[in-house]
Amino acid sequence: MKAITVTDDSNRSLNWQDVPDPTCAPHQALVDIHATAVNRADLLQRAGNYPPPPGAPPYMGLEMSGTISTIGDEVEDFKPGDRVLGLLTGGGYAEQVAVPATHLLPLPNDRDFVWGAAIAEVFLTAFANIFIEAELQEGETALIHGGASGVGTAAIQLCHQAGCKVIATAGTDAKVARCLELGAAFAVNYKQQDFAEAILAHTDGVDVVLDIAGADYLARNMQLLKLRGRLVVIAVLTGAEAQINLLQMQVKRLRLIGSVLRSRSDEEKNDIIAAFKKRFWPMLVDGRIQTVIEEVLPIQRAADAQAILGENRNIGKVILQVRS
Ligand SMILES: NC(=O)c1ccc[n+]([C@@H]2O[C@H](COP(=O)([O-])OP(=O)(O)OC[C@H]3O[C@@H](n4cnc5c(N)ncnc54)[C@H](OP(=O)(O)O)[C@@H]3O)[C@@H](O)[C@H]2O)c1
Repeated sequence: MKAITVTDDSNRSLNWQDVPDPTCAPHQALVDIHATAVNRADLLQRAGNYPPPPGAPPYMGLEMSGTISTIGDEVEDFKPGDRVLGLLTGGGYAEQVAVPATHLLPLPNDRDFVWGAAIAEVFLTAFANIFIEAELQEGETALIHGGASGVGTAAIQLCHQAGCKVIATAGTDAKVARCLELGAAFAVNYKQQDFAEAILAHTDGVDVVLDIAGADYLARNMQLLKLRGRLVVIAVLTGAEAQINLLQMQVKRLRLIGSVLRSRSDEEKNDIIAAFKKRFWPMLVDGRIQTVIEEVLPIQRAADAQAILGENRNIGKVILQVRS
């Protein structure tokens, strides 16, 4: 098969080239990939800063949609020919991938592969962190930083559908407008005003923060959290080290949570996927929740696609088409 490999040069150049075919274990399905999507983590992996976990395919790509070509002996829920989408530990930037069958969802007949490639990584990340880790409850308020990102656009919709008030931050007015369209009640352009001041002028605080910024936002996130609030840090785009007011944490009875999805065990991912499938999957299938897609490019243009994320130009997902 062919896959995108990274050359060890100053540009970390990407090449669509022949690589060994994957093999299918008894609990896995081998999928002919039709589309995959770019995630921020791919840029880190390409730079050599986010190696795949042990046992994962060496290629970038944390999600895909495609058609099953082969199933392992233990697989009961799928058969060759089924159209699926799935969560990967790597290997989406390729023509084929072997994936635990429990990490697949059936692609509805009226949905195309581009739609299917825009779901797994961002919706499962948003779901796991907001609803499992932070236990967001109906009627509570959630603050979603990076509201126009792939994860953010998924998170806003999930919280909105769960009957929660959503506040979002984003770096351009166009992104702020999209956050509002997706269900945010209030959104702040954090480059034009201090997000904490703007939010406190609008509300008495939030119950859950989904944070991607890290160090620069920590004090303000904690200030915004109400009694028994929960802060989930899923990335540290402004830095990893910060001072923390432990008294504030204690007195407000806050919970600070750090989380990654990719390196979790297959079993943990099974539980997340099963819970997501029960609660939110029907809303994606019937259109109450939308995929948000910035652009679709052929896999051979993976470097251009990654540049869109690298320059913060995307609202939602950038899709790579592997087969037409
Ligand atoms: N822990 C996990 O398991 C996990 C899983 C998936 C994703 N993530 C993380 O979640 C984040 C979103 O992922 P994604 O793939 O959806 O990303 P994405 O679509 O590339 O969006 C990231 C957005 O972050 C904003 N941003 C960039 N630098 C920033 C900074 N210094 N301060 C504040 N905002 C900044 C930009 O939007 P603006 O223009 O609005 O600033 C950018 O568009 C990434 O950081 C990713 O690493 C974590």
